[in-house]
Amino acid sequence: MQKQYWKTICGFVAVIGLFSGCNRVNNPEEIAMLQEQSNAIMAMATETVPTETTTTPETTTVTTTTTTDLYAPFIDYDAGIDPDKPMVALTFDDGPSEHTATILDVLEQNNAHATFFVVGENINTYTGEHIKRAASLGCEIGSHTYDHCNLTKASAKEVDNTVKKTDDTVFDLIGRYPYWLRPPYGSFNDDVRLQIQKPLAFWSIDTRDWDTRDTASTVNTVLNYIEDGDIVLMHDFYAPTAAAAEQLIPTLIEQGYQLVTLSEMAYYRDFQLENGMLVIDMHPDEPSYYPTPDASNNTTTVESSSEEMTETVPCEEAMCTDSVESY
Ligand code: NI
Repeated sequence: MQKQYWKTICGFVAVIGLFSGCNRVNNPEEIAMLQEQSNAIMAMATETVPTETTTTPETTTVTTTTTTDLYAPFIDYDAGIDPDKPMVALTFDDGPSEHTATILDVLEQNNAHATFFVVGENINTYTGEHIKRAASLGCEIGSHTYDHCNLTKASAKEVDNTVKKTDDTVFDLIGRYPYWLRPPYGSFNDDVRLQIQKPLAFWSIDTRDWDTRDTASTVNTVLNYIEDGDIVLMHDFYAPTAAAAEQLIPTLIEQGYQLVTLSEMAYYRDFQLENGMLVIDMHPDEPSYYPTPDASNNTTTVESSSEEMTETVPCEEAMCTDSVESY
Protein backbone atom coordinates (compact mmCIF):
# COMPACT_ATOMS: atom_id res chain seq x y z
CA MET A 1 0.00 0.00 0.00
CA GLN A 2 1.24 3.43 -0.80
CA LYS A 3 2.75 5.42 2.04
CA GLN A 4 0.44 8.13 3.14
CA TYR A 5 1.71 11.58 4.01
CA TRP A 6 -0.22 14.71 4.43
CA LYS A 7 0.31 18.20 5.68
CA THR A 8 -1.32 19.69 8.70
CA ILE A 9 -3.65 22.53 7.95
CA CYS A 10 -1.36 25.08 9.60
CA GLY A 11 1.74 24.04 7.73
CA PHE A 12 -0.17 23.86 4.52
CA VAL A 13 -1.57 27.36 4.79
CA ALA A 14 1.89 28.65 5.68
CA VAL A 15 3.38 27.06 2.60
CA ILE A 16 0.67 28.46 0.39
CA GLY A 17 1.51 31.82 1.87
CA LEU A 18 5.11 31.37 0.84
CA PHE A 19 4.25 30.30 -2.65
CA SER A 20 1.84 33.17 -2.90
CA GLY A 21 4.74 35.54 -2.54
CA CYS A 22 6.90 33.79 -5.11
CA ASN A 23 6.20 36.19 -7.89
CA ARG A 24 7.53 39.10 -5.95
CA VAL A 25 10.95 37.54 -5.41
CA ASN A 26 13.56 38.05 -8.07
CA ASN A 27 16.80 37.84 -6.12
CA PRO A 28 18.29 34.31 -6.38
CA GLU A 29 19.48 34.43 -2.76
CA GLU A 30 16.01 35.34 -1.57
CA ILE A 31 14.57 32.57 -3.71
CA ALA A 32 16.98 30.05 -2.21
CA MET A 33 16.16 31.26 1.28
CA LEU A 34 12.43 31.05 0.64
CA GLN A 35 12.81 27.59 -0.79
CA GLU A 36 14.69 26.52 2.33
CA GLN A 37 12.01 27.98 4.53
CA SER A 38 9.39 26.28 2.46
CA ASN A 39 11.13 22.95 2.74
CA ALA A 40 11.50 23.38 6.48
CA ILE A 41 7.81 24.17 6.90
CA MET A 42 6.81 21.32 4.67
CA ALA A 43 9.04 19.01 6.73
CA MET A 44 7.54 20.23 10.00
CA ALA A 45 4.06 19.97 8.63
CA THR A 46 4.52 16.47 7.39
CA GLU A 47 3.01 13.74 9.43
CA THR A 48 4.01 10.25 8.74
CA VAL A 49 1.22 7.83 9.22
CA PRO A 50 2.06 4.27 9.96
CA THR A 51 1.67 2.30 6.82
CA GLU A 52 -1.48 0.30 7.03
CA THR A 53 -1.18 -3.29 6.17
CA THR A 54 -4.33 -4.55 4.64
CA THR A 55 -4.96 -7.84 3.09
CA THR A 56 -6.93 -7.36 -0.04
CA PRO A 57 -8.27 -10.47 -1.62
CA GLU A 58 -7.40 -10.69 -5.26
CA THR A 59 -10.32 -9.75 -7.37
CA THR A 60 -10.94 -9.76 -11.03
CA THR A 61 -12.73 -6.72 -12.30
CA VAL A 62 -14.50 -7.10 -15.57
CA THR A 63 -15.67 -3.90 -17.14
CA THR A 64 -18.71 -4.65 -19.15
CA THR A 65 -20.33 -1.28 -19.56
CA THR A 66 -19.20 1.91 -21.23
CA THR A 67 -20.47 3.91 -18.24
CA THR A 68 -17.17 3.35 -16.46
CA ASP A 69 -15.24 4.74 -19.39
CA LEU A 70 -17.29 7.91 -19.44
CA TYR A 71 -15.91 8.74 -16.00
CA ALA A 72 -12.40 7.46 -16.66
CA PRO A 73 -9.28 9.52 -16.02
CA PHE A 74 -7.74 11.17 -19.07
CA ILE A 75 -4.75 9.00 -19.93
CA ASP A 76 -3.10 8.68 -23.33
CA TYR A 77 -1.48 5.26 -23.10
CA ASP A 78 0.26 5.80 -26.43
CA ALA A 79 1.97 9.06 -25.51
CA GLY A 80 5.27 7.37 -24.75
CA ILE A 81 5.38 8.65 -21.20
CA ASP A 82 8.34 7.26 -19.27
CA PRO A 83 7.51 6.80 -15.58
CA ASP A 84 11.18 6.93 -14.68
CA LYS A 85 11.71 10.39 -16.14
CA PRO A 86 10.63 13.70 -14.62
CA MET A 87 7.10 14.85 -15.31
CA VAL A 88 5.00 17.85 -14.36
CA ALA A 89 1.35 18.75 -14.78
CA LEU A 90 0.53 22.21 -16.07
CA THR A 91 -3.03 23.13 -15.16
CA PHE A 92 -5.11 26.01 -16.46
CA ASP A 93 -8.22 27.27 -14.66
CA ASP A 94 -11.16 29.56 -15.37
CA GLY A 95 -11.37 29.01 -19.11
CA PRO A 96 -12.09 28.23 -21.77
CA SER A 97 -11.38 31.59 -23.31
CA GLU A 98 -9.99 33.01 -26.52
CA HIS A 99 -6.50 32.53 -25.06
CA THR A 100 -6.98 28.80 -24.65
CA ALA A 101 -6.30 28.38 -28.37
CA THR A 102 -2.81 29.87 -28.06
CA ILE A 103 -1.95 27.41 -25.31
CA LEU A 104 -3.33 24.50 -27.34
CA ASP A 105 -1.21 25.58 -30.31
CA VAL A 106 2.01 25.35 -28.32
CA LEU A 107 0.97 22.11 -26.63
CA GLU A 108 0.28 20.58 -30.02
CA GLN A 109 3.58 21.80 -31.47
CA ASN A 110 5.42 20.16 -28.59
CA ASN A 111 3.34 16.98 -28.25
CA ALA A 112 2.61 18.02 -24.70
CA HIS A 113 -0.43 17.58 -22.46
CA ALA A 114 -2.02 19.85 -19.87
CA THR A 115 -5.16 19.84 -17.77
CA PHE A 116 -7.86 22.46 -18.22
CA PHE A 117 -10.21 23.10 -15.30
CA VAL A 118 -13.10 24.65 -17.12
CA VAL A 119 -15.88 26.86 -15.81
CA GLY A 120 -19.16 25.65 -17.27
CA GLU A 121 -20.53 29.13 -17.80
CA ASN A 122 -17.56 30.03 -19.99
CA ILE A 123 -18.39 27.31 -22.47
CA ASN A 124 -20.18 28.54 -25.56
CA THR A 125 -20.24 27.64 -29.23
CA TYR A 126 -16.89 29.28 -29.77
CA THR A 127 -14.97 28.23 -26.64
CA GLY A 128 -16.48 24.77 -26.72
CA GLU A 129 -14.35 24.07 -29.77
CA HIS A 130 -11.24 24.61 -27.63
CA ILE A 131 -12.43 21.92 -25.24
CA LYS A 132 -12.99 19.48 -28.08
CA ARG A 133 -9.58 20.26 -29.50
CA ALA A 134 -7.88 19.96 -26.11
CA ALA A 135 -9.39 16.53 -25.58
CA SER A 136 -8.37 15.45 -29.08
CA LEU A 137 -4.79 16.48 -28.29
CA GLY A 138 -4.71 14.25 -25.23
CA CYS A 139 -5.31 17.01 -22.73
CA GLU A 140 -7.49 16.51 -19.69
CA ILE A 141 -10.70 18.41 -19.08
CA GLY A 142 -11.41 18.90 -15.39
CA SER A 143 -14.26 20.67 -13.64
CA HIS A 144 -13.89 24.08 -12.01
CA THR A 145 -17.65 24.16 -11.32
CA TYR A 146 -20.29 25.76 -13.51
CA ASP A 147 -20.26 29.22 -11.96
CA HIS A 148 -16.94 29.40 -10.13
CA CYS A 149 -18.65 29.31 -6.78
CA ASN A 150 -17.06 28.93 -3.40
CA LEU A 151 -18.14 25.40 -2.63
CA THR A 152 -17.75 25.85 1.13
CA LYS A 153 -20.38 28.61 1.04
CA ALA A 154 -22.82 26.71 -1.13
CA SER A 155 -25.60 24.43 0.02
CA ALA A 156 -25.34 20.73 -0.67
CA LYS A 157 -27.90 21.12 -3.43
CA GLU A 158 -25.95 23.97 -5.01
CA VAL A 159 -22.77 21.92 -4.91
CA ASP A 160 -24.51 19.05 -6.64
CA ASN A 161 -26.00 21.35 -9.27
CA THR A 162 -22.82 23.22 -10.14
CA VAL A 163 -20.84 20.00 -10.46
CA LYS A 164 -23.50 18.17 -12.46
CA LYS A 165 -24.13 21.07 -14.83
CA THR A 166 -20.43 21.23 -15.66
CA ASP A 167 -20.21 17.47 -16.07
CA ASP A 168 -23.15 17.51 -18.45
CA THR A 169 -21.83 20.45 -20.46
CA VAL A 170 -18.44 18.80 -20.92
CA PHE A 171 -20.09 15.48 -21.74
CA ASP A 172 -22.16 17.11 -24.47
CA LEU A 173 -18.93 18.34 -26.06
CA ILE A 174 -16.54 15.41 -25.78
CA GLY A 175 -18.66 12.43 -24.77
CA ARG A 176 -17.06 11.92 -21.37
CA TYR A 177 -17.10 13.52 -17.95
CA PRO A 178 -14.42 15.44 -16.07
CA TYR A 179 -12.53 13.09 -13.76
CA TRP A 180 -11.01 15.71 -11.45
CA LEU A 181 -12.44 18.85 -9.87
CA ARG A 182 -10.47 21.87 -8.76
CA PRO A 183 -12.36 23.86 -6.13
CA PRO A 184 -12.60 27.57 -7.01
CA TYR A 185 -10.47 29.80 -4.77
CA GLY A 186 -8.81 26.64 -3.50
CA SER A 187 -11.62 26.56 -0.98
CA PHE A 188 -12.72 23.22 0.36
CA ASN A 189 -13.74 21.38 3.48
CA ASP A 190 -14.40 17.79 4.38
CA ASP A 191 -18.11 18.02 3.62
CA VAL A 192 -17.40 19.30 0.12
CA ARG A 193 -14.77 16.65 -0.48
CA LEU A 194 -17.10 13.89 0.64
CA GLN A 195 -19.94 15.18 -1.46
CA ILE A 196 -18.06 15.59 -4.73
CA GLN A 197 -17.58 12.21 -6.25
CA LYS A 198 -14.20 13.04 -7.77
CA PRO A 199 -10.58 13.47 -6.69
CA LEU A 200 -9.84 17.15 -6.03
CA ALA A 201 -6.78 18.86 -7.49
CA PHE A 202 -4.79 21.47 -5.65
CA TRP A 203 -1.35 22.67 -6.74
CA SER A 204 2.27 22.90 -5.59
CA ILE A 205 3.33 25.92 -7.65
CA ASP A 206 1.09 28.97 -7.68
CA THR A 207 2.12 31.37 -10.42
CA ARG A 208 -0.39 34.02 -9.29
CA ASP A 209 -0.72 34.87 -12.96
CA TRP A 210 -4.26 36.17 -12.39
CA ASP A 211 -2.78 38.78 -10.06
CA THR A 212 0.42 39.81 -11.81
CA ARG A 213 -0.83 39.51 -15.42
CA ASP A 214 2.87 39.44 -16.17
CA THR A 215 4.39 36.91 -18.55
CA ALA A 216 7.94 37.09 -17.18
CA SER A 217 6.75 36.69 -13.60
CA THR A 218 4.71 33.62 -14.51
CA VAL A 219 7.59 32.06 -16.44
CA ASN A 220 10.15 32.79 -13.73
CA THR A 221 7.99 31.47 -10.92
CA VAL A 222 7.59 28.16 -12.69
CA LEU A 223 11.20 27.80 -13.77
CA ASN A 224 12.56 28.80 -10.35
CA TYR A 225 10.51 26.25 -8.44
CA ILE A 226 9.66 23.41 -10.78
CA GLU A 227 10.51 19.88 -9.79
CA ASP A 228 9.46 16.39 -10.69
CA GLY A 229 5.83 15.75 -9.77
CA ASP A 230 4.74 19.36 -9.42
CA ILE A 231 1.26 20.61 -10.23
CA VAL A 232 1.41 24.14 -11.65
CA LEU A 233 -1.52 26.54 -11.31
CA MET A 234 -2.16 28.98 -14.15
CA HIS A 235 -5.25 30.46 -15.80
CA ASP A 236 -5.99 30.30 -19.51
CA PHE A 237 -8.09 33.40 -19.14
CA TYR A 238 -5.29 35.90 -19.64
CA ALA A 239 -3.14 36.79 -22.63
CA PRO A 240 0.06 37.12 -20.53
CA THR A 241 -0.48 33.57 -19.27
CA ALA A 242 -0.86 32.25 -22.82
CA ALA A 243 2.38 34.06 -23.71
CA ALA A 244 4.03 32.49 -20.67
CA ALA A 245 2.87 29.05 -21.82
CA GLU A 246 4.52 29.66 -25.18
CA GLN A 247 7.84 30.08 -23.38
CA LEU A 248 7.37 27.55 -20.61
CA ILE A 249 6.24 24.53 -22.57
CA PRO A 250 9.28 24.21 -24.87
CA THR A 251 11.64 25.24 -22.07
CA LEU A 252 10.36 22.63 -19.62
CA ILE A 253 10.65 19.97 -22.30
CA GLU A 254 14.22 21.07 -23.01
CA GLN A 255 14.92 20.68 -19.32
CA GLY A 256 13.77 17.07 -19.49
CA TYR A 257 10.26 17.30 -18.12
CA GLN A 258 7.41 15.38 -19.64
CA LEU A 259 4.25 17.48 -19.68
CA VAL A 260 1.40 15.22 -18.69
CA THR A 261 -2.19 15.38 -17.54
CA LEU A 262 -2.95 14.98 -13.86
CA SER A 263 -4.41 11.55 -14.54
CA GLU A 264 -1.34 10.49 -16.49
CA MET A 265 0.92 11.59 -13.66
CA ALA A 266 -1.09 9.60 -11.15
CA TYR A 267 -1.16 6.56 -13.41
CA TYR A 268 2.50 6.50 -14.30
CA ARG A 269 3.56 7.27 -10.73
CA ASP A 270 1.29 4.57 -9.37
CA PHE A 271 -0.46 7.16 -7.22
CA GLN A 272 -3.74 5.71 -6.02
CA LEU A 273 -6.57 8.19 -6.47
CA GLU A 274 -9.83 8.17 -4.57
CA ASN A 275 -12.88 10.37 -4.65
CA GLY A 276 -12.63 13.04 -1.99
CA MET A 277 -8.83 12.94 -1.93
CA LEU A 278 -7.18 16.34 -2.46
CA VAL A 279 -3.84 16.18 -4.28
CA ILE A 280 -1.22 18.90 -3.87
CA ASP A 281 1.68 17.30 -5.74
CA MET A 282 2.92 13.90 -6.83
CA HIS A 283 6.59 14.21 -5.97
CA PRO A 284 8.17 10.79 -6.51
CA ASP A 285 9.36 10.16 -2.95
CA GLU A 286 6.84 12.12 -0.93
CA PRO A 287 3.58 13.04 -2.62
CA SER A 288 1.51 15.63 -0.75
CA TYR A 289 -2.19 15.13 -0.41
CA TYR A 290 -5.10 15.03 1.94
CA PRO A 291 -6.57 11.53 2.01
CA THR A 292 -10.30 11.13 1.68
CA PRO A 293 -11.83 12.45 4.89
CA ASP A 294 -13.39 10.24 7.47
CA ALA A 295 -17.09 10.93 7.22
CA SER A 296 -17.45 10.82 11.00
CA ASN A 297 -14.90 13.60 11.66
CA ASN A 298 -15.72 17.26 12.14
CA THR A 299 -15.24 19.36 9.06
CA THR A 300 -12.35 21.77 8.58
CA THR A 301 -12.48 24.53 6.00
CA VAL A 302 -9.38 25.59 4.12
CA GLU A 303 -9.36 28.86 2.25
CA SER A 304 -6.48 29.59 -0.08
CA SER A 305 -5.56 33.07 -1.15
CA SER A 306 -4.59 31.84 -4.57
CA GLU A 307 -7.53 33.32 -6.35
CA GLU A 308 -9.23 36.58 -5.74
CA MET A 309 -12.04 36.07 -3.30
CA THR A 310 -14.80 38.49 -3.98
CA GLU A 311 -17.19 38.25 -1.10
CA THR A 312 -19.51 35.83 0.53
CA VAL A 313 -22.38 35.56 -1.86
CA PRO A 314 -24.70 32.81 -2.94
CA CYS A 315 -23.28 30.21 -5.27
CA GLU A 316 -24.83 31.52 -8.44
CA GLU A 317 -23.32 34.94 -7.90
CA ALA A 318 -19.87 33.97 -6.64
CA MET A 319 -17.90 34.55 -9.80
CA CYS A 320 -14.29 35.36 -10.44
CA THR A 321 -14.38 39.07 -11.15
CA ASP A 322 -12.57 38.52 -14.41
CA SER A 323 -14.57 35.53 -15.48
CA VAL A 324 -17.59 37.74 -15.96
CA GLU A 325 -16.08 39.15 -19.12
CA SER A 326 -17.73 37.74 -22.17
CA TYR A 327 -16.77 37.37 -25.79
NI1 NI B 1 -10.72 29.79 -10.65
